[in-house]
Parts: sequence; C-alpha cells; structure tokens
Amino acid sequence: MAPVPKPLPISVLLPEHDIATQFADALARGYLGEQFFYWLPLSVEAWVALCRSPEYRNADRALTLLSRAAPRLAELWPAADTLCGLGCGEGSKDRVLLGAFPPLLYIGGDFSQGLLELALACAAPAARAVHGFKLDISSDQHLEALAAAVCQSGRSAVYAMLGNTLGAFDPDRFPARLHRLMRPEDRAVFDGEIFAGDETLRGYDHPTNRRFAFAPLASLGLTESDGELRFELRPGSSGLHEVVKYFVPGRDLDLKIAGRELRLRQGEPLRMSSSLKYDEPAFVERIERGGLRVEFSDKSDDGRFLLAAAAPA
Ligand SMILES: C[S@@+](CC[C@H](N)C(=O)[O-])C[C@H]1O[C@@H](n2cnc3c(N)ncnc32)[C@H](O)[C@@H]1O
Repeated sequence: MAPVPKPLPISVLLPEHDIATQFADALARGYLGEQFFYWLPLSVEAWVALCRSPEYRNADRALTLLSRAAPRLAELWPAADTLCGLGCGEGSKDRVLLGAFPPLLYIGGDFSQGLLELALACAAPAARAVHGFKLDISSDQHLEALAAAVCQSGRSAVYAMLGNTLGAFDPDRFPARLHRLMRPEDRAVFDGEIFAGDETLRGYDHPTNRRFAFAPLASLGLTESDGELRFELRPGSSGLHEVVKYFVPGRDLDLKIAGRELRLRQGEPLRMSSSLKYDEPAFVERIERGGLRVEFSDKSDDGRFLLAAAAPA
C-alpha cells in the first residue's frame, strides 16, 4: 500500500467561498486585481509554467541573483530561525534562501491555496518544519495574524517578498506596514524589476505570459477569440512605471460565476492588475521610506533586476 502523504498544515484566514464572491464582484466592477491571477487551477498551472519558461526572463534573473546573494544573507543574519515568504507563490525562490541557511522554520503566506500547497512541498525538504497561511496580505488583520504566528514560533525571522512581488503589495505602503510588525531582530528581503522602456514590454508580451494573463477568463470558458488581451507600457512618475493589461470583449459575453450571471459588454475594457517596474533609486527609496535600512543589495548581471536586504532602521 502506498504511504499516506503527510498532511499539509495550512491555516485558512480567507475561505474559498469569500474569494469566489470577491472574484464575481471584481468582474462585475470591471477590474481584476492581482490576486485573482493566481487563484483558480488553470492560473496555478499557467503561473508554474511561466516560472519555468525561458521566455520569462525575470524568473531566471530573480533565481540567479538570489542564488548568488543567499550565502551572503546567511552570513549577515546568523540568528535567523524562520523564513516567512510573503506572496510565496510556488516557493521556488524561497527554497533557494532555505538552502543557504541552517534548517529554518518555513512559513508561507499566499492568497492561492494551490500555490501554497506547492510552496510547502517545495520547502519541506530544506526546512525544519513548514506551515502555510492562506490570506489576503492587503488586510491588516491577516498580516498581523501572520506576523503573530511568526513571532510565536521563533526569535528572528526573515520576511521574503520575491519575484517582483512588492509591486503587487503597494510599494508606497507595504514596507511601512511590514516594518510596524517586525521585531528589531527580524530582517526582510525584496527584489524588483528595473524599468527598461520598450524592452520591458517585450519581456512581458509573449505566449506563456499571455496564457497566464488570460487564465482567469479561460477558467470561465472564454478563449482569446472572444476579444483582445492588450498589454501597454505606461511610464509613470516618482520612479514607478507600469505594464498595464486589459481585455476588450469582441461581443457581449455572458458569464456564470459563483451562482451569479454577469455580462462583459462588447468594447468595454475589463481592466486587470498592472505589473510595476522601478527606476533603480526608487526601489531602495521605497523600502527605506517604510522605516527599513538596506544593509545589502545586488543586481543581476544585465542590470534589470535588483535585490535589497534590509533591517528595521
Ligand atoms: C509575482 S507572484 C510571486 C510569487 C513568488 N514570490 C515568486 O517569486 O515566484 C505574486 C504572488 O503573490 C500572491 N498574491 C498576490 N496578491 C496577494 C494578496 N493580496 N494576498 C496574498 N497573496 C497575494 C500571488 O498569489 C502570487 O503567488
């Protein structure tokens, strides 16, 4: 008989039913937030494929940069006993950090049950123990509950926001929100994509990323022939730039979701979360403005990805 798999310890602060209601509300309002691109099984599969795709240069940049920086972080932070991945995804980046430290407790936090399960399975061989929190990081209550669990389980934690994830959590507010919950012994590591004009857009608009961006709609039975998925570059101010995406229905589309019937009207754009990119000084400035002091930073060889490791100032 095959051995019974070890149960995955995941604390659910955000039930699936609530997410389904939020998803339907988002479609009704005409704006799909970042979290919904990682939720349904098709999205989980498309994100995992994107993380492994050679077309998606950022995954490779982030992993290569992290592999180089991780031993240095382990030297800098010998007291660390816990790694907490915020928006941990499928966990491959957090796994690189775990491999460089003596065995840590791993706590993964994410909106997506499917990705959390993958992250815990990925972390388990390199961690002392693993625990997941399914939560919405934009909720102060959820973030506080996660930080309380981190504080209870050890003395010094490293919070990781990797894969350009700070951009999804509001780079103007998130470092300060995290700083409020950090103890003097805790540390944080962020990475971010440096803006490079049209080259940034070219790195974004390819078939594997299109499949990922379309997955929430594909999950509702739509195909790309039902309209047009567009990516556009929107250079911004204060060192923050966006790749925006939206879907324009080619005809009226009737959807059934979570017991509701919704209509996307022909020609009316369904806006989707954008991906943020930084001018180099703006990335570090945002972390430091939140009350953290960057004590180590490194850049990918092509200069397009930055990593910053910080302590409470
Ligand atoms: C760009 S991905 C990065 C994933 C992972 N850190 C990596 O580097 O591969 C962003 C992650 O944040 C999660 N996420 C987005 N919005 C969230 C929210 N409001 N609360 C919790 N997780 C969220 C997504 O589910 C996804 O796993």
